[in-house]
Amino acid sequence: MVSDGKRYPAELIARIELLQTDITTLDVDGIVNAANTSLLGGGGVDGAIHRAAGPELLAECRTLGGCPTGQAKITKGYKLAATYVIHTVGPIYHGKAQDAELLASCYVNSLALAGEYELESIAFPAISTGVYGYPLEEATPIALGTTLEELPKYESIRRVVFALFSEKALKVYTDSLLLC
Ligand code: APR
Repeated sequence: MVSDGKRYPAELIARIELLQTDITTLDVDGIVNAANTSLLGGGGVDGAIHRAAGPELLAECRTLGGCPTGQAKITKGYKLAATYVIHTVGPIYHGKAQDAELLASCYVNSLALAGEYELESIAFPAISTGVYGYPLEEATPIALGTTLEELPKYESIRRVVFALFSEKALKVYTDSLLLC
């Protein structure tokens, strides 16, 4: 978690990109999926990624044995432009302190996998802010702050795209990034 009001160097912030787009269209090394603990697909961005990747993605996911909340696992991207999919499971929002810790862990563990696989570019959706009910205004500083805290560890990751699915989400991210 990031202490409020911390400022980050311009060259670090320059590695962050905010786009209003469908994450499945992005030609990046890896896209992050907001999955559930079964890793067997679902709706939202999970459904979109599985539709775009094709059935081989589900077949590989079946071999992974699920994923605990806050953790992340990596698969190939198959028919996606992205080479890899990093599946992470966000917390279902309950308004408890643990929600923020688990959400931050999704970004920590997804970036760690991207670093381990030496991905140069990775795209995140707004994890947990859909079906899992995490208020966007609360989730966004966690997403950005955690990413900015972790990014210096991974020189190979030159570009982190936040793929926002609405104008509102893009605005919330834009306003939040201005405070970083
Ligand atoms: N590209 C980018 N963002 C998207 C896309 C897309 N194609 N589709 C949806 N989103 C956005 C939503 O608008 C939301 O802001 O992704 C964010 C996360 O929403 P969900 O996909 O509902 O994910 P989440 O809230 O983490 O809930 C996960 O939903 O789909 C199921 O299997 C999934 O059970 C899991 C739960």
